Amino acid sequence: MVNKITVVGAGNVGATAAQGLARRELARKVVMIDIMEGVPQGKGLDQWESAPIEGWDTRVSGTNSYDDTAGSDVVVVTAGIARKPGMSREDLLRTNAGIVRDVSANIKRSSPDSIIIMVSNPLDVMAHVCMQETGFPRERVIGMAGVLDTARYRSFIALELDISVEDIQALVLGGHGDTMVPLASYTTVSGIPLSQLLPKDRIDALVDRARTGGAEIVSLLKTGSAYYAPAAAVVQMVEAIVRDKKRVLPCSAWLQGEFGMKDLFLGVPCKLGRDGLEKIIEVELTGDEKAALGKSADAVRETMALLS
Ligand code: NAI
Ligand code: 2OP
Repeated sequence: MVNKITVVGAGNVGATAAQGLARRELARKVVMIDIMEGVPQGKGLDQWESAPIEGWDTRVSGTNSYDDTAGSDVVVVTAGIARKPGMSREDLLRTNAGIVRDVSANIKRSSPDSIIIMVSNPLDVMAHVCMQETGFPRERVIGMAGVLDTARYRSFIALELDISVEDIQALVLGGHGDTMVPLASYTTVSGIPLSQLLPKDRIDALVDRARTGGAEIVSLLKTGSAYYAPAAAVVQMVEAIVRDKKRVLPCSAWLQGEFGMKDLFLGVPCKLGRDGLEKIIEVELTGDEKAALGKSADAVRETMALLS
């Protein structure tokens, strides 16, 4: 358990993540901060009032001031806006980049030693903006996407085969978007290659569904995007760090030559522990997987270029 975890943005993902962090007692205090007056305070109090029923002791609270977040060990950034009618992708990118810059400057001032988990979209580019603004080393700025994308892929395989999600191991790499790269060659059911259990066309269909998993939820919800699974993914990453579990999870990390790429955030297998990103684990890829990862990196670079 650490002393304090801050969640920036008390919207759907932020509030759900804060509740998950408190339920697992990953910190003595969980603080939600948002620009909306009263909202983080109200959600924090409501969550704290559930503690006696559920039996946990993490003090959850909400604020509009970074003073209350000072000295956080981990900061989760979920602040941002969703695309509105008439708004281009570039407008959204610029708006969220402005928000993430402001948030990052405040984190740097109030919690200079924290480990940041970026969630705001477009994920890989927002992680880059945050690292630039804070000047934190790559060990302390990590993007959440791969855990979510992998969970979606595993959940679809479990439904298709009618088996437990717990027995499915999978890895989804690349940028958080349509170009993500689910690695069929690393997908197993208790060690049995998925290709022995499903024909190629079914695997391809599940891969496609995972790629468009975020859009599938948006098309159902209509007024927002997914938040239960994203929040669960955040909690798993924070738990790996806080409890120094040395878990190997797919996360967006700043590449410095790994997988033959440099100077961009991209989803890769990462060892997470008390120091944050402790290692990027390079795995062998097939020719097709390498090409797909390269294409995904190009898509992230193209989005990055829109900001310059
Ligand atoms: P939401 O709209 O429910 O919540 C966003 C919150 O951010 C709002 O409460 C808003 O007031 C707050 N906010 C805006 N500017 C702020 C600032 N400067 N400081 C503090 N708070 C500020 O949105 P939701 O559903 O929680 O999603 C949040 C972000 O996470 C979005 O950018 C979304 O696209 C992204 N996301 C990323 C995922 C991933 O896999 N990386 C998965 C799901 C969501
Ligand atoms: C998702 O994948 C919106 O990035 C978000 O659900």
